[in-house]
Amino acid sequence: MPTRQYQRLNLLFRLALVSVLTLGAARVILDNLKNNLSWSGDWIFEITRHSKYTVRVPIEVSEEETIEDGCNVFEGNWVWDNSSYPLYREEKCPFLVKQTTCLKNGRPDSFYQNWRWQPNSCNLPRFDGVKLLEMLRDKRLMFVGDSVQRSMFESMVCLVQSAIPNDVKRSLRRIPPRKIFKVEEFNATIEYYWAPFIIESISDHATNHTVLKRLVRLDSVAKHSREWEGADILIFESYIWWMYKPTINATYGSIDNILEYNVTTAYRLALETWANWIDSSINPTTQKIFFATMSPTHLWSWEWKPGTDGNCFNETRPIEGSYWGTGSSLDIMGIVEDVLGQLRTKVSVLNITQLSEFRKDGHTSVYGERKGKLLTKEQRSDPKNYADCIHWCLPGVPDAWNEILYALLLQDYRGQR
Ligand SMILES: *[C@@H]1O[C@H](CO)[C@@H](O)[C@H](O)[C@H]1NC(C)=O
Ligand SMILES: *[C@@H]1O[C@H](CO)[C@@H](O)[C@H](O)[C@H]1NC(C)=O
Ligand SMILES: *[C@@H]1O[C@H](CO)[C@@H](O)[C@H](O)[C@H]1NC(C)=O
Ligand SMILES: *[C@@H]1O[C@H](CO)[C@@H](O)[C@H](O)[C@H]1NC(C)=O
Ligand SMILES: *[C@@H]1O[C@H](CO)[C@@H](O)[C@H](O)[C@H]1NC(C)=O
Ligand SMILES: *[C@@H]1O[C@H](CO)[C@@H](O)[C@H](O)[C@H]1NC(C)=O
Ligand SMILES: *[C@@H]1O[C@H](CO)[C@@H](O)[C@H](O)[C@H]1NC(C)=O
Ligand SMILES: *[C@@H]1O[C@H](CO)[C@@H](O)[C@H](O)[C@H]1NC(C)=O
Repeated sequence: MPTRQYQRLNLLFRLALVSVLTLGAARVILDNLKNNLSWSGDWIFEITRHSKYTVRVPIEVSEEETIEDGCNVFEGNWVWDNSSYPLYREEKCPFLVKQTTCLKNGRPDSFYQNWRWQPNSCNLPRFDGVKLLEMLRDKRLMFVGDSVQRSMFESMVCLVQSAIPNDVKRSLRRIPPRKIFKVEEFNATIEYYWAPFIIESISDHATNHTVLKRLVRLDSVAKHSREWEGADILIFESYIWWMYKPTINATYGSIDNILEYNVTTAYRLALETWANWIDSSINPTTQKIFFATMSPTHLWSWEWKPGTDGNCFNETRPIEGSYWGTGSSLDIMGIVEDVLGQLRTKVSVLNITQLSEFRKDGHTSVYGERKGKLLTKEQRSDPKNYADCIHWCLPGVPDAWNEILYALLLQDYRGQR
């Protein structure tokens, strides 16, 4: 790629990141208000008790529900399926944050909700929330990462909650930097933990953080990992926060010795710190670890439609044929592969990048938030500056990530018996 174009890409990438990864004081105040006024204490939402599922039911896994040997579930295509998708209704899931509720925020089309991911050489089992909860009985499933990972958490919560009757007790509790969803009758917990770099950084406050000032501690993960220790299933993800500039301020060893690192170097060191924790603390017989690869961005329409100068705004169909955007760094992907390859502990890759690359239509664009607030009418009419082509609408693309996660968990569960 010519240097000038590369520099342009880089600058645009930075501008886009700042606009959507900066949460200001407004959000913090808003959160406090909400916490104090509409919710009692930490409990954001609660539904009353029932006792339908107190008895453990063995999970039957039929032939159709198993993934055939050798099938790569990440290779395939999106199939139009408006009879069974979406798997839940946006308006029926009270746990969605307003960043993801595109229809409610005014998006005119809902086509992005009607696509099913179809692997080339096998079928995915249909998502069954009760089966998932049975697998999670007396267990904790935890998503760790940034706001993209948070949408995977929210998607999972909505998928599960739409599958159980209304009178089954469930709750969503916020203990920053965690969000905890619990279904009492299964004693099953689905959690989210904010750690945009996985390792420690000055951006670890759940709401007061900005991508403009980044400082990471490449050798430190303990403050976070203490909170991850008891989880039975962990899904890690970290990418977009690294990509704001080609270099990043970081410490390794003494916290007074701040140096500018090449992002690729820093990412590798960070992942190795995480990998050391995995190898020294995870019990592979009782704990399962996943790593989700980068969630793609669709910031420049010239990448899929040469000659145009837009972004993901107004896109209503997935890309067909092969496509990989420049926003998904192959260097970082290679590092992920390397580091995971060197682990002694088994970590399964949720390689969601390619399948999500096709989904230029799935982003929140102007039907989401900026700095913790929904866009104004004026901002909405200026998609060039205000479209968010990083985050995803829900229901939408992250549901497919969870369908795959579910399929892999089911596969594992069957293997154990
Ligand atoms: C956010 O963090 C910055 C620096 O860490 C601090 O100066 C500021 O007061 C914080 N804002 C709020 C609303 O807590
Ligand atoms: C909400 O409560 C917290 C303590 O529980 C307090 O620090 C904060 O100021 C309150 N916020 C508002 C907006 O009243
Ligand atoms: C589903 O999609 C088909 C093909 O585009 C269309 O003809 C049909 O009206 C759609 N059905 C619903 C319920 O939207
Ligand atoms: C509920 O699940 C937690 C793990 O999330 C476990 O430690 C606890 O023992 C379980 N409680 C019961 C009553 O089984
Ligand atoms: C690193 O920190 C210094 C001092 O705060 C700042 O001038 C520089 O721009 C930072 N570098 C990056 C890549 O953010
Ligand atoms: C920084 O990373 C780039 C790739 O992203 C690489 O080409 C370059 O050589 C690296 N520079 C240093 C000093 O490591
Ligand atoms: C959105 O796309 C449609 C056709 O796909 C086009 O007619 C319309 O002008 C576009 N709107 C904007 C604001 O670009
Ligand atoms: C993920 O899949 C892509 C192909 O879509 C491949 O190039 C890449 O190496 C895979 N990454 C990992 C970590 O396995």
